[in-house]
Amino acid sequence: MSRIVLKSAAELETMRDSCRMSAEVLQAMTAEVKPGVTTGELDEKAQVMIKKMGAKPSFLGYSGYPAALCVSINEEVIHGIPGRREILPGDLVSLDVGVYYNGFHGDNATTVMVGAVDPEAIRLVETTRRALQLAIAATKPGGRLSDISHTIECVAKASGCSVVRQFVGHGVGHHLHEEPQIPNYGAPGRGPVLKPGMTLAIEPMVNLGRAEVVVLDDDWTVVTRDGQPSAHFEHTVAVLEESVEILTLA
Ligand code: MF3
Ligand code: CO
Repeated sequence: MSRIVLKSAAELETMRDSCRMSAEVLQAMTAEVKPGVTTGELDEKAQVMIKKMGAKPSFLGYSGYPAALCVSINEEVIHGIPGRREILPGDLVSLDVGVYYNGFHGDNATTVMVGAVDPEAIRLVETTRRALQLAIAATKPGGRLSDISHTIECVAKASGCSVVRQFVGHGVGHHLHEEPQIPNYGAPGRGPVLKPGMTLAIEPMVNLGRAEVVVLDDDWTVVTRDGQPSAHFEHTVAVLEESVEILTLA
C-alpha cells in the first residue's frame, strides 16, 4: 500500500494552479450545459480549453478512459463517456474534470440541473452539495479521515438518500489517485490523522433511491441499479496548519 504524500509549501503553490484551472474548466462547461447540446460537444470544448491553458486533461487515457470529461446524466452516477447524447430539459448532468499542469492534478465535479427539474431531484442535488460543504468543514488538521466519510453519510441519510459505497474520494497530487481512499460512509474518528500538506479529492456520490450501482457494458458508466437519479460533487482541498483550503475554486 502506497503511503500518503504530504506536499511542501512550494508543491501546494503549484497545485493551486492546476486546481484553479480544473475549476475554470468546470465552470465554463457548466455554462455550456443546455438542452440540445451533446455530451461530446462539451468534451471537445473542455479539451480545447485545457490545451489553450498549456495543460493536459487528467482523465484522457487514464486506464484507457477516452475523454477529458465525465458526463453522467440522471441515473448515471459517474464516469459517463461523452458522445452523441443530447442534453434534455429536466436532466441532472454531472460533470467531472481533472487538469494536469506542472506535475500536479486538480480534480473537481458538479451536478447541473437543466431547466425545470423534478423536486425530488432538486432535493438530491442540494443534499449532495451540502454533503460536500459539510465534509470540507469536517476536514481539520489533527482530525481523522473518517470524519469526512461520516459527515457525508449523515447528510445523505438525514435527507433519506443513500451513498454509493463502491467508489470513493482520494488523495490527489502528482497522481490523480493517491492514498488515502476516502469512503463516503463510516464511523467517525477512524483512519489516518489529517496533516498539513495532505491534498484530498472529496467527492460525495449520492443516490435518491438505493445505494447499489452497476457498471454498464462500456466498462465505465456507473448507473444506479434502481434507475433513480444520482448526484456528484467534488472539490480538491489542501489541509493547512490550522485550516483547510478549497483549491478548486474558479
Ligand atoms: N473524479 C473521478 C475520479 O477521481 C474521475 C476519474 S475518471 C477517469 O475517479 F477516467 F480518469 F478514471
Ligand atoms: Co476524483
